Amino acid sequence: MITKTIEIAKEAGSLIREGFGNKISIEFKTDAANLVTNIDKAAEKVITDFIKKEFPTHSIIAEESGNCSKSSEYTWVIDPIDGTTNFAHGLPIFSVSIGIQKNNETIIGVIYDVMRHVIYSAEKGAGTFENDKKINVSNNSKLAESVLVTGFAYDRKDGYKEAIKLFGAFLPKTRAVRRLGSAAIDFCYVASGVFDGFWEANLSPWDVCAGMLIVEEAGGKLTDFTNRPINIFSNQFLATNGKVHDEMIEIMNS
Ligand code: IPD
Ligand code: CA
Ligand code: CA
Repeated sequence: MITKTIEIAKEAGSLIREGFGNKISIEFKTDAANLVTNIDKAAEKVITDFIKKEFPTHSIIAEESGNCSKSSEYTWVIDPIDGTTNFAHGLPIFSVSIGIQKNNETIIGVIYDVMRHVIYSAEKGAGTFENDKKINVSNNSKLAESVLVTGFAYDRKDGYKEAIKLFGAFLPKTRAVRRLGSAAIDFCYVASGVFDGFWEANLSPWDVCAGMLIVEEAGGKLTDFTNRPINIFSNQFLATNGKVHDEMIEIMNS
């Protein structure tokens, strides 16, 4: 199943690459900060058409078309473009994210970094790969030498205040803090050791399903901001190399 998942992620990725930098149509989902483009919808259709044809009994949770519940123990969790704002503004940092759950446990995660032509993939118990190379989280245990990444949810009410507070708390205690605009890519960069930790609140299942397994299989650790276990429907996500986890939790709760 993973080979087919990688193939369909690449197919959706080609369509997205062709659309990148060309005239696209943009709609607002809730307000001017929350976008969807014709390319998000077309890429999602490529993936869901494939699932309906190849695995007609499987359930689907997809960002742009919603839930399609079937009796199967398998559920595909899909974000056709993670990083739509980047995509729509010509910033080449966005990805296709596809997770597959069996009985509510993620067994496959595939994220395609479209413009870098890099596939991050993980299968439960079999490690994480960046294209064909096995990857692992970083070995760094010093927060002061860490590079972290975060994201800000679309909620403009109060959520962002907490996000800014945490950003400010980590900035003086780390080497750097980044904000890339694709949570899926943030997870991949933790898995490959580029970043030592990633945190974000209010993400959706399609933002995190593949990425969480990709981090876990690369040897990383995942909890909420108070160190409790999480799943794809949780509200807070902290993904680290495991070695800076406790120090990050301490700062988040001080
Ligand atoms: C968004 C990206 C972004 C994160 C937002 C997500 P989208 O997904 O992952 O990095 O900060 O919270 O909603 O809307 O581009 O698929
Ligand atoms: Ca997303
Ligand atoms: Ca999306």
